[in-house]
Amino acid sequence: MIRSWRNLSTLAAFRPCAQYPARSASFSTSSAARANRAIVYTQVGHPAINLRTYTFPTLPLPSPGSVNIRYRLSPINPSDLNVIEGAYPVQPDPDMLLSPDGDLFVPGNEGLAEVTAVGDGVQSLSVGDWIVVAKQQSGTWVSARTVRAEDVVKLPKGDVSEASAATITVNPPTAYNMLREFVDLKEGDWIIQNGANSAVGQAVIQIAARRGINTINLVRNRDDFEELEKRLKALGATHVLTYDDLVARRQFSKQVKEWTEGAPVRLMLNCIGGENVTKMMKVLGLDAHLVTYGAMAREPISIPASPLIFKGLVVRGFWQSRWYETHGRKDREELMRAIINLRLKEPDHEIVTIPGGLDDEEAGQLVRATIRRVSEGTVGKKILWRIEEPAD
Ligand SMILES: NC(=O)c1ccc[n+]([C@@H]2O[C@H](COP(=O)([O-])OP(=O)(O)OC[C@H]3O[C@@H](n4cnc5c(N)ncnc54)[C@H](OP(=O)(O)O)[C@@H]3O)[C@@H](O)[C@H]2O)c1
Repeated sequence: MIRSWRNLSTLAAFRPCAQYPARSASFSTSSAARANRAIVYTQVGHPAINLRTYTFPTLPLPSPGSVNIRYRLSPINPSDLNVIEGAYPVQPDPDMLLSPDGDLFVPGNEGLAEVTAVGDGVQSLSVGDWIVVAKQQSGTWVSARTVRAEDVVKLPKGDVSEASAATITVNPPTAYNMLREFVDLKEGDWIIQNGANSAVGQAVIQIAARRGINTINLVRNRDDFEELEKRLKALGATHVLTYDDLVARRQFSKQVKEWTEGAPVRLMLNCIGGENVTKMMKVLGLDAHLVTYGAMAREPISIPASPLIFKGLVVRGFWQSRWYETHGRKDREELMRAIINLRLKEPDHEIVTIPGGLDDEEAGQLVRATIRRVSEGTVGKKILWRIEEPAD
């Protein structure tokens, strides 16, 4: 169940914890059996300051109906940072808190794990299976966990790469569902999107191309724009532009009309926000949908009255977490199958290993330095954690 920030803010767990004060550089245990590690925080705030690592003992055998899992890779998504900042409408699932006192929040909303032990009564899973946890905010930045078997979706091992499997539950489903749920898109139709080089944007390009849907893709200008354009076109992008092209508004509209040969642009996907959204909207056809699913620029969008009145523009939002909340296990499994069958290219990524040989002080420094790189926006690819089990 997704719990709202409002509800969670009343939990004692959100207060800074006296036992593990936020200023402390390290809160590793002195336990003899130091076999697992999690990235954790005790209070909301900037992740490059607040995150620590925590070492905890080997998991006991799973109780009936549960399985022990070992995470192989867990990505850092933009929303994970928002959750740690307290700027997201959900917080880590309180049922998944770590530590004897329930004071440690483990970030992470998706990841690829492997089953390491199976509790009594679990028929559907075996040791070695690849799985994802289909529970939102389940705390995936950890080396190992015990989860209920009913919260797990098994993936066909070998049919999908590790990096694709670790990033399969958030971005590709968002792209897949946004291309189905708002407009009945047909082969030959046109859509437009910003943030086209984001992980979601790249999934949109690929899924649209598989369905014969044309995409007009906007990205920020950069020195290596031609290189990026080439990469997005190789994924199936029809046209790639920069936001600078929106400045000459009439020329932009004329260009789009030429490309579409007058066919309406029926859907616009927005993960950035700000004034460029209003400019892009100009090319939308009658009864088009503008669907917002992200706010990377952290700027509001402005909708003039005229497209609402004269063109019947429909303005909507989409949140994959809500989709999961309102769809049962069967739908989730079907969604995973559909995504796997699409054989999307795995996201450009970098794996940051947190070596088992580091102590919690050193591991925490590596975590915070990595988050700083992500926050600066200079990485240009997904970062995936590989959290090794700490040495005894
Ligand atoms: N609603 C949902 O269910 C849902 C699901 C998944 C993701 N999302 C949201 O979708 C967005 C993209 O997620 P992702 O994982 O695909 O992201 P990502 O791969 O990390 O890519 C981030 C994108 O945002 C762009 N960007 C960052 N800051 C910007 C700014 N100030 N102005 C313009 N562009 C900026 C980046 O462009 P550069 O390459 O130029 O830096 C890049 O295209 C996020 O807001 C995320 O929270 C929402």
